[in-house]
Amino acid sequence: MQGLLELFALVGQMTGLNRESLTSDQTTPSNASLAYSPPFYPSPWMTGTGDWAEAYQQARDFVSQLTLLEKVNLTTGVGWEGEQCVGNVGSVPRLGLRSLCMQDSPVGVRFADYSSVFSSGQTVAATFDRGLMYARGYAMGSEFKDKGVSVMLGPVAGPIGRSPAGGRNWEGFSPDPYLTGVGMAESVRGIQDAGVIACAKHFIANEQEHFRQAPEAIGYGFNITESISENVDDVTMHELYLWPFADAVKAGVGSIMCSYNQINNSYGCQNSKLLNNVLKDELGFQGFVMSDWQAQHTGAASANAGLDMTMPGDTSFNTGYSYWGSNLTLAVLNGTVAPARLDDMVMRIMTPYFYVGLTLDEPEINFSSWTKDTIGPLHASVGADIQQINYHVDVRRDHGALIRNIGARATVLLKNTNNTLPLDRPKFVAVIGEDAGPNPWGPNGCADRGCDNGTLAAAWGSGSADFTYLVTPDSALQAQALQDGSRYESILDNYATSQISALVSQANATTIVFVNADSGEGYISVDGNEGDRNNLTLWHSGDALIQNVSALCPNTIVVIHSTGPTLVGDWYDNENITAILWAGLPGQESGNSITDVLYGKVNPAARTPFTWAPTRESYGADILYEPNNGEGAPQNNFTEGIFIDYRALDRTNTTPIYEFGFGLSYTTFEYSDLTITSANASAYVPTTGMTSAAPVLGNYSTNLNDYQFPNSSFPYVEQYIYPYLNATNASAASMDPNYGQTADQFMPPNATSTAPQPLLAAGGAPGGNPALWDVLYTVTATIRNTGDRNGEEVPQLYLSLGGPNDPRIILRGFDRLSIDAGESATFTTNLLRRDLSNWDTVQQNWVITDYPKTVYVGSSSKNLPLSQSLSGNSTSTLRRRFSH
Ligand SMILES: *[C@@H]1O[C@H](CO)[C@@H](O)[C@H](O)[C@H]1NC(C)=O
Ligand SMILES: *[C@@H]1O[C@H](CO)[C@@H](O)[C@H](O)[C@H]1NC(C)=O
Ligand SMILES: *[C@@H]1O[C@H](CO)[C@@H](O)[C@H](O)[C@H]1NC(C)=O
Ligand SMILES: *[C@@H]1O[C@H](CO)[C@@H](O)[C@H](O)[C@H]1NC(C)=O
Ligand SMILES: *[C@@H]1O[C@H](CO)[C@@H](O)[C@H](O)[C@H]1NC(C)=O
Ligand SMILES: *[C@@H]1O[C@H](CO)[C@@H](O)[C@H](O)[C@H]1NC(C)=O
Ligand SMILES: *[C@@H]1O[C@H](CO)[C@@H](O)[C@H](O)[C@H]1NC(C)=O
Ligand SMILES: *[C@@H]1O[C@H](CO)[C@@H](O)[C@H](O)[C@H]1NC(C)=O
Ligand SMILES: *[C@@H]1O[C@H](CO)[C@@H](O)[C@H](O)[C@H]1NC(C)=O
Ligand SMILES: *[C@@H]1O[C@H](CO)[C@@H](O)[C@H](O)[C@H]1NC(C)=O
Repeated sequence: MQGLLELFALVGQMTGLNRESLTSDQTTPSNASLAYSPPFYPSPWMTGTGDWAEAYQQARDFVSQLTLLEKVNLTTGVGWEGEQCVGNVGSVPRLGLRSLCMQDSPVGVRFADYSSVFSSGQTVAATFDRGLMYARGYAMGSEFKDKGVSVMLGPVAGPIGRSPAGGRNWEGFSPDPYLTGVGMAESVRGIQDAGVIACAKHFIANEQEHFRQAPEAIGYGFNITESISENVDDVTMHELYLWPFADAVKAGVGSIMCSYNQINNSYGCQNSKLLNNVLKDELGFQGFVMSDWQAQHTGAASANAGLDMTMPGDTSFNTGYSYWGSNLTLAVLNGTVAPARLDDMVMRIMTPYFYVGLTLDEPEINFSSWTKDTIGPLHASVGADIQQINYHVDVRRDHGALIRNIGARATVLLKNTNNTLPLDRPKFVAVIGEDAGPNPWGPNGCADRGCDNGTLAAAWGSGSADFTYLVTPDSALQAQALQDGSRYESILDNYATSQISALVSQANATTIVFVNADSGEGYISVDGNEGDRNNLTLWHSGDALIQNVSALCPNTIVVIHSTGPTLVGDWYDNENITAILWAGLPGQESGNSITDVLYGKVNPAARTPFTWAPTRESYGADILYEPNNGEGAPQNNFTEGIFIDYRALDRTNTTPIYEFGFGLSYTTFEYSDLTITSANASAYVPTTGMTSAAPVLGNYSTNLNDYQFPNSSFPYVEQYIYPYLNATNASAASMDPNYGQTADQFMPPNATSTAPQPLLAAGGAPGGNPALWDVLYTVTATIRNTGDRNGEEVPQLYLSLGGPNDPRIILRGFDRLSIDAGESATFTTNLLRRDLSNWDTVQQNWVITDYPKTVYVGSSSKNLPLSQSLSGNSTSTLRRRFSH
């Protein structure tokens, strides 16, 4: 192995920053002190295992008919704004397949009208409700489907939320991998059951906005030449960052988006270790890997490293050139990409296509991302082909009711002194704060929600969508007050200090203060925040606003809309602050959702999906805000390992203000009767054996004349990316001055091999070794509603794995149960083999260690009244039964 590493180092030196070379595993010059990502070739070919068999056969029948040019067409985007969606690939007119449409976002159809804006992923995570996660996915998928989208670009597990200030954490679910894994699986199932392909993104360790792309960083003043390298060790990768992607793969996700950042100094979209070895081999991923927009940096190298589709297709926006397109045609013809690899790319695209029920006869795309005009250019990049492009199809159905319900069921009640809530026809309601009202510029007044004006219902970036309407807290609370006959006054200017003081100091005031903290994607800067938050305090002087109001009003209720935790230590325990609620990013029904909770129409049960720590430092891991490697790739060592969020606080014995999993109800619950039943699962068997050889689907000519642009009547669109060649000379057709040059000829060993390959012990099926998903134990407990209101409760199971490098506890089960006053319900959850396992870096497999394991059940990560040793004090029993 050492010899191979040296060879790579040599190539690195020969080519400098070898972005254009055929090696993919080192874009930073060799430097022994930098984290390194080892090569893994060839790229595994899919096999159609499990429930993919039928779709695989359909795809095989289809792909076997395709020409080389048609295959390349399906892998390569047509260029930025080349068609109506944020990404489109070429079509296959001969067989009636229209262009696949790739569309943002994880909260709704981006850039569309008459569609819904759903809660953020982080917000639905707070429901701890699998049914709502699925329902949200299904509803969103239905809207994408009706707009003509083929691939919905969500859900998100990267970022997972390593640092609370991470700009896009809200797009994902939670820094806990188990909760995020459930969110991913339920979302994937929901989206794909609605008939579109889901895209789990961004793979992987995409944990901060700063330095994710060098040109973007240059734009805000940092001269770097390469994207940040997130340096992650093998255990941390498996036990934390990869975990929820494994759930997505197990759930049948059809596509995965590789990320902008490097991982161990190899770009996300050409990292053969992660794409070939981990994702496609170990996790048995059957779908396609698409690049994030402009995240591809090489042609043949990225293909061999496991990339299957390039988005949006051009080398960078609107160059008119591509690493693939003509270049991929050439790379196959000159032997640097095996024809079987191209076949596999296309099989990986078409199998999920059929798997979710898409057909060769899909209705046309009925909207344009680039204008809301009815008539406009089909090819917005160059303003060509003016025609009707927007049909203004209303795809919302009754999703408003679902969004309202999710918003309410996701609202976390953090504090509620002496049953201040729920409100019952209060005499006088004073609502304070810009966050209660509308954006004066309108709900879509800032492109991609790139500002923090008015109530925060969706954060900024490509992960947002346009509102068809937005119910503000002010309007919904006023409607409720009128119905109740309450006095109602609101002040929506945080700086109207004298008016606020005069109002909230009046007798009988029930004051509700709305505050927020925003963040988003790195291409937009809001108030100097380059995506990531600069701090963890509230925006628009929200903390001062709360303190000013609570100094005067003994019944101050605080509602926080935010993209993650804020530092509440200065005021949360003020006795005049009688209630605190975190409402996340609830989407279009924001005001109705919060009103339902404040007035008790919904009895809250949500749980905070992250920790509210006393200080920023308590979280351990933070954003890297300054480059630390000169003009080279900033190096971000994830030295905290798996210890993020509550695991970090537990490790340093830091008491959180509100712990992970915490949330109050208007009633009370009691836990009892913990029982653990062994399922007597059979022993874990490592997968062994070999794959079959790579299938080859069809023949192709090696004569360059056969690949030229069609005749002069071909409707060529400027800047558009095509699979054809412009010249009969390969070098000329590539338009690449380095075409075929010596330094570029180095190919990683086995890069084009099609021979049978050994199976991995931890692999064997989508999601990894199928035995990892065996049930080992079933755990039950009794939960009794001891209050006088019907309610819902979220029992949680935590596990101590017992080893010296394990966290105090980790979440490994939860449910959301509806329990009427005085009634009891049984919490039942299964512990799978994977839930009990650690990643063993030597065996390259999951193992259940000998350390004593303990199960805890309770209502939060700090309130765990029930516990039991897993093996009845006998770890040897455990080992005998469950280890190999
Ligand atoms: C990151 O880790 C590498 C390898 O351990 C070390 O050489 C390097 O100094 C670290 N970088 C920083 C910025 O801490
Ligand atoms: C490739 O896709 C483009 C755009 O959809 C289409 O015009 C062209 O005919 C396709 N080429 C082939 C060979 O199918
Ligand atoms: C930025 O870095 C590049 C590469 O090292 C260098 O050529 C260029 O002069 C630098 N630009 C500035 C403004 O420092
Ligand atoms: C082929 O790829 C190279 C970069 O590797 C690029 O410079 C060139 O423009 C591409 N050619 C075409 C025709 O897109
Ligand atoms: C809560 O109720 C108790 C008992 O009635 C009372 O002593 C206490 O002052 C109340 N606290 C607040 C903050 O109103
Ligand atoms: C809206 O936000 C922008 C950008 O942050 C800011 O400049 C502007 O003043 C805000 N407008 C209003 C009316 O609040
Ligand atoms: C934190 O950032 C927000 C948003 O940019 C800003 O309004 C606020 O003043 C900052 N807080 C501190 C303490 O600097
Ligand atoms: C609570 O409000 C009262 C006014 O009702 C005020 O006198 C008192 O100082 C406030 N307490 C705190 C801790 O701010
Ligand atoms: C290919 O040829 C067309 C027609 O001559 C020309 O307009 C276009 O710029 C060329 N494109 C590339 C990628 O070379
Ligand atoms: C093969 O084609 C690719 C894509 O144009 C090019 O990058 C590479 O240099 C070529 N290799 C050889 C051996 O011609």
